[in-house]
Amino acid sequence: MVRRLPGGILHRAEPDRPRTLRPHPGGPGPDLHRGGAVTTPAAPTAFPGGPQLFRLSPQVAHLNHGSYGAVPLSVTQARLRLLAEADTDPDAFFVAVPDRLAEARGRVAEHLGADPEGISFVTNATEAANLALDALRLGPDDEILVSDHGYGTVVSAAARRARLTTVALDPALPDEDAVRRAVLAAVTPRTVAVLLDQISSPTARVIATPRLLADLADREVTTLVDGAHAPGMLADPLAGRPDFWFGNLHKWGYAPPGSAVLAVSPRYRAQVPAPVPSWEDHRGFPRAAEYRATADYTGWLAAPEGLDLFVRLGPERVRAHNSALAGYGAELLSRIPGLTSLPADDALAMRALRLPPGMARTQDEAAALREEIAARLGCRVLIWPWPGGGGIRICGQIYNVPQEYERLAAGLGSLLAGR
Ligand SMILES: Cc1ncc(COP(=O)(O)O)c(C=O)c1O
Repeated sequence: MVRRLPGGILHRAEPDRPRTLRPHPGGPGPDLHRGGAVTTPAAPTAFPGGPQLFRLSPQVAHLNHGSYGAVPLSVTQARLRLLAEADTDPDAFFVAVPDRLAEARGRVAEHLGADPEGISFVTNATEAANLALDALRLGPDDEILVSDHGYGTVVSAAARRARLTTVALDPALPDEDAVRRAVLAAVTPRTVAVLLDQISSPTARVIATPRLLADLADREVTTLVDGAHAPGMLADPLAGRPDFWFGNLHKWGYAPPGSAVLAVSPRYRAQVPAPVPSWEDHRGFPRAAEYRATADYTGWLAAPEGLDLFVRLGPERVRAHNSALAGYGAELLSRIPGLTSLPADDALAMRALRLPPGMARTQDEAAALREEIAARLGCRVLIWPWPGGGGIRICGQIYNVPQEYERLAAGLGSLLAGR
């Protein structure tokens, strides 16, 4: 039972206990009650003051933090202060930008456990993938191994530069070791590089584990890790030290959109191209890779504020809260006829379930279902396409409360049945 206190902070009014799920008032019906009363798992406690840190609309259940993140108000305010500085004295601001970026980069590196000279700010994971792949200087016969869980724009970046081999990883593979063995079995003598997700976007699977990266290094294959979801989600995002790793700060790191980093092992740093030749070009990586002449750098300069906030809130507390909420939501959804939970890492703040066969087979079908869920249930989720039938992914974040997942679960069964 949760009650809303003055000021809007949600507090639990009584201890967690199993209870009978009530359908959402005005919702489409008691999907979860077919066959009699169903007890739900205990709802996790809301994160005190969490929703108030963001400007998100209370009309919408934002259960999709994993796609674009959400910026806390204090981070936006820090960014606005930087914009005011730039507007007040552009010359002074822009002359100082390269050194201020170096300082901000150092703070980000400390948060991530990275070498400050070995990471560069980049706009997003997609841009990082393109820079990393260019640094490989691939030849026409070189082959890159990717998985069928790989993110579309990142896989396309590889496909533009080399031949691809795609390892199919059944979303129902039971554990990380099964994933590891499947990837290793797909390495061929022509594989020069492997580009894998640390946490996959559609299926929330942990793929590029330190053990798999070590096995690939033993085979002398260059490793590129798409860690888009790792900063903020994983305690040691660079674990396994791949040759290239990139992560978005704007997802789980509370940074403004367009903030990401590319980490490069010493062996490849000199080969990372600058996206555009700038006055920092002669400085080499990382300055040459991150400086883009006159541009808006306020997001990158404010990015450490997001990570600082995360530390102030307590990383372990935030992670435990987020994963408990995502797990709670997945448990509720798994009771809807036709939805099947996929194997999950309990520590993560994302969970994926398979939709009934035949649903969301293509990107267009997935987008249509996503928008229908948003319009009819007021819930934002990721619907991912997959051959034969796609799935749904939900996330947990400190602004979420259990009732949002209950609302989704109460309405989704009827919505799917009516399609
Ligand atoms: C695993 C993964 N890689 C890459 C991306 C692309 O991120 P961006 O749009 O910031 O380039 C995403 C976005 O959700 C993702 O989930």
